[in-house]
Amino acid sequence: MSAIEVTGGISLQGEIEIQGSKNAVLPILAACMLGEGLCVIENCPRITDVTDTLEIMRHLGCRIRREERTVCIDASGVRAFEIGGAEAARIRSSVLFLGALLGRMKRAVLPHPGGCAIGARPIDQHIAALRQLGARFYLEEKITADARDMQGGRVCLAVPSVGATENAILAAVTVPGETVISHAAREPEIDELCEFLRRRGASVARTDEGDIHIRGGKRLGPVRYRMKPDRIVAGTYLLAAAATRGKIHISNFPYRELDALIAVLRDMGVSVECGKDGIQLTANRPLRAIPYLETAPYPGFPTDLQSPLMAVFCRARGESRICETIFENRFRTVKELERMGAKIRTDGNCAVVKGIPALAPAKLTAPDLRGGAALVIAALQANGHSVISNTGYIERGYEDICRDLRALGAEVRQNGKEIQ
Ligand code: UD1
Repeated sequence: MSAIEVTGGISLQGEIEIQGSKNAVLPILAACMLGEGLCVIENCPRITDVTDTLEIMRHLGCRIRREERTVCIDASGVRAFEIGGAEAARIRSSVLFLGALLGRMKRAVLPHPGGCAIGARPIDQHIAALRQLGARFYLEEKITADARDMQGGRVCLAVPSVGATENAILAAVTVPGETVISHAAREPEIDELCEFLRRRGASVARTDEGDIHIRGGKRLGPVRYRMKPDRIVAGTYLLAAAATRGKIHISNFPYRELDALIAVLRDMGVSVECGKDGIQLTANRPLRAIPYLETAPYPGFPTDLQSPLMAVFCRARGESRICETIFENRFRTVKELERMGAKIRTDGNCAVVKGIPALAPAKLTAPDLRGGAALVIAALQANGHSVISNTGYIERGYEDICRDLRALGAEVRQNGKEIQ
């Protein structure tokens, strides 16, 4: 099992560039299954979620070349429409192949994805959206779907699910007719998927009201596309710098996507300057607690930064309260933070964190991807040596968290990292 060793107590200082976005690249890889011609994805993050997604695509018949951060995908040989249980079990976002396979093959067979570390994660909205476009579903031991009668139409989501919005887009661009997806998720990764599809020739755009408007059936051609930076990774490093009273510059970040986090950091007493050349964060005062905050769909505070923020609250002056409204099982980090002396009380989906002057180093276990990153932030604050195990989770979303933090002066190293 891989582990990360951290010697904490050092202020992060320096400049960093952010890897390509995980949550944007996963639907974009699925979108490479549609249309014709070679898709070249640049700045594709070297994370295990990408490796697993590419493995599924190989099973389906794609020819893939991956060199460093460039991935070339030729989907002309795709004939299969079934994803096996073993492949799907490796990555939850395999559910995105539902829309892509229906678009490409007009049929799809997938195992039920089931829950995961952060919650039950139902897919009723994915199925409802595709049904509204005319897809037929047979939900037995496996999910079997038939899209031969699919055409453009109105899709209304009861929950603004990111994945369901992406599945509806992937299916709708391939069929004739107009589609309007209302109550669509507004996360920037959805807009990046739309931009990618437009670059291939699709007609897909967000309206002023936030709906997604698609004129389907246009020919999708080859493309060379460069992934934008990952807002959650950027947010993680901003929080790590704030937690260690550091001073860092992120050179390649479209800061608007982090408005909710930046507002919280400023309320805590951190100076954050945003400009054309990136974000400059300076934390040279003790941090203040935040009396109340809840996670929310974009542009609200992202659930993916809830655990990393909680690790910062542990030493902020006063009592902070954070309520998790998106995923029901995202407080498993609490038990680990308590091993370091953190004072946290949970009450249903809310956690109250009483700031203390210092965290103690400890042996910790990453409970999930973002919870793992949160523990790294906690360990960076604790004077002494901490070890975080189960860091395979972190590798699903961070290219090399140790490399990045070392570039900012931290003493961190990884043992037993899988070479991709
Ligand atoms: C995506 C992100 C994840 C992020 C999340 C919320 C990817 C690969 N993952 O996950 O990092 O934390 O958005 O921003 O992009 N729901 C239903 N029925 C459904 C689908 C979702 O009830 O059919 C509920 C979920 O249980 C959850 C909420 O909707 O409470 C949001 O989930 P969703 O937006 O679908 O998240 P993902 O796309 O899985």
